[in-house]
Amino acid sequence: MYKKNVRCKDFIDLSDFTTDDIKGFLNLAHEMKKSPDDFRDSLKGKTLGMIFNKHSTRTRISFETGIYQLGGAGLYFGPGQLQLDRGEPISDTARVLSRYLDGIMIRTFSHDDVKNLAKFGSIPVINGLTDYSHPCQVMADLQTMQEKFGMKLDGLNFTYIGDGNNMAVSLLQGCIKMGMNVALISPKDYTIMKSAVDEMRPEAEEKGCKILLTDNIEEGMQGAHAVYTDVWASMGQEDESAKRMKAFEGYTVNNKMMSWADKDAIFMHCLPAHRGEEVEAEVIDGPQSVIFDEAENRLHAQKAVMYSLMR
Ligand code: CP
Ligand code: NVA
Repeated sequence: MYKKNVRCKDFIDLSDFTTDDIKGFLNLAHEMKKSPDDFRDSLKGKTLGMIFNKHSTRTRISFETGIYQLGGAGLYFGPGQLQLDRGEPISDTARVLSRYLDGIMIRTFSHDDVKNLAKFGSIPVINGLTDYSHPCQVMADLQTMQEKFGMKLDGLNFTYIGDGNNMAVSLLQGCIKMGMNVALISPKDYTIMKSAVDEMRPEAEEKGCKILLTDNIEEGMQGAHAVYTDVWASMGQEDESAKRMKAFEGYTVNNKMMSWADKDAIFMHCLPAHRGEEVEAEVIDGPQSVIFDEAENRLHAQKAVMYSLMR
């Protein structure tokens, strides 16, 4: 059986972990996908609190199913259900929940709220998406790339096109940890935040990975082995939708753009997707698309994270 392989109590950002930690989670995720029965009841009697302040299909269902498959139970708290929403401090909430639960998964707006929950609580806190990052999705994405390209992703070219949002941040972190070159293509006013790139640059240099930031689509797509996009307006940005649709004109991933990538490139998306906006149906529903493998791997990758943190 696997021993605990992580140095953090919590799972908040991929940049908090070493490459070996992340490879450890991924090895376990592949093992759990292949032989789920070997892990049944490994978290028997444990409870995971799941706090959702934003919508979710994949994250909620994969966490709830995942903890159940490991022998534990998930407790769901939707928007407005906790005293937190009536002003109870995060610090008190964290300490109270730590007396009942064995872990907390939280999807919310403020990244600092997640960090504070982790700081004041004594149990593992898992980031199920904030305005800043979405590490659980990227664990599933790395697992999917390993299934397509083999376990060593070093030296492969990863291209993200679109909004420099929470997905862009976690993808940059995860791909650099795995030794990949990363190109981020965004319109000038929607680039990834500079601090996220600055954080990863030293490690990229040490590993010999290139980071390219550009608004030139053809340049960023050259030689890409994986092409990734996400929505132009994330949850919480609905009132900016019209402005964003205009700003991202010309960024819809289509077959012509995919022809600039490697001939065996895969197309990736965290979902939910908007066909005709960030990607054309010809690509997302075409033979290069691996979107449903990514969605399935949420289950396996998160089971690996829960197992590693909560045992
Ligand atoms: N990709 C993802 O996190 O999906 P949900 O918003 O449905 O959870
Ligand atoms: N960037 C998207 C990701 C959804 C999984 C959002 O935050 O809405």
